[in-house]
Amino acid sequence: MRVSYDMTNKNVFVFGGTSGINLGIAEGFANAGARLAVASRNPDKVEAAKFHVSRDGRPAHGYALDVREAKLVAEAIEHFVNAHGPIDVLVSGAAGNFPAAAAQLSPNGFKSVVDIDLLGTFNVMRAAHAHLTKPGACVINISAPQAVIPMAWQVHVCAAKAGVDMLTKTLAIEWGPEGIRVNSIIPGPIDGTEGMARLAPTPQARQMVVNSVPMRRMGTPDDIAQVCLFLASDSARYVSGAIIPVDGGWVASGARLEAPATK
Ligand code: COA
Ligand code: NAP
Repeated sequence: MRVSYDMTNKNVFVFGGTSGINLGIAEGFANAGARLAVASRNPDKVEAAKFHVSRDGRPAHGYALDVREAKLVAEAIEHFVNAHGPIDVLVSGAAGNFPAAAAQLSPNGFKSVVDIDLLGTFNVMRAAHAHLTKPGACVINISAPQAVIPMAWQVHVCAAKAGVDMLTKTLAIEWGPEGIRVNSIIPGPIDGTEGMARLAPTPQARQMVVNSVPMRRMGTPDDIAQVCLFLASDSARYVSGAIIPVDGGWVASGARLEAPATK
């Protein structure tokens, strides 16, 4: 039986919440009664996602911005808070990924992923902190298996997501005394997403990934949303500083992706 969570009167801001896993998370919170804000760069995606997570009497907010721009992130958070009050749940999920061999990856290619994933998560958490004042307020960072499993052709992502998990653990310590819980979720391979399209672009690569997941299937955005709802609920009131794989056992089994052949 599925647990149903009640997020009525909760304010939830999902950065990167306009497609894929993060949109699924935003949808999960909207269905549970929360008021949503979503943000990403592409204004068309923002508009569509805003519509998608609006509910009767609870129109969602959308902000077209780049998480690398701390000022824009802070302005969006302030706008949402001024309209509806402090944030209950902050989700940081904006990210970039492409496969590239380290020996060919340009410094700017490395930097762009680290800046989106790691600096972006810092920007989002830093700006939201002053508004995480309600009892039970929490942060959920969307990490990746690359944070804990080294993967060839993913040096930029491994470095960035390992950093994200250290933000989670460090700020769980700093902000715990204020009652703010901070956790990371590590999604496994999630079907139909941009991330999987980039890392397993062929039917063969996709099948290899499925075969390597102990539960023998890819996940869905809703698999991730359900654990976010749990983390935001009172059931998780003593969970903080945790890095939680939601991956059918993929990380436990080594989370192998086929590295493209190199010379
Ligand atoms: N292989 C190698 N290098 C690449 C690359 C690839 N496939 N794609 C981009 N780069 C390099 C660029 O060449 C550039 O470096 P340079 O200036 O030395 O040439 C650098 O990365 C930045 O590229 P740019 O296109 O300006 O970055 P951006 O900030 O506009 O976009 C990306 C960021 C590159 C991460 C882009 O893929 C993106 O927007 N991704 C978001 C969606 C996504 O990745 N979803 C999956 C999440 S898991
Ligand atoms: P996605 O649909 O591409 O999601 C990434 C989101 O981030 C998009 O909404 C994108 O929208 C936004 N974004 C990217 N760069 C941004 C920037 N600089 N500023 C603001 N927003 C930005 O990909 P996904 O595969 O669902 O991945 C979602 C999250 O899950 C990521 O954190 C990823 O690392 C993680 N993850 C994915 C998988 C998987 O199987 N897919 C597995 C493990 C972890 P715009 O283009 O409009 O900016």
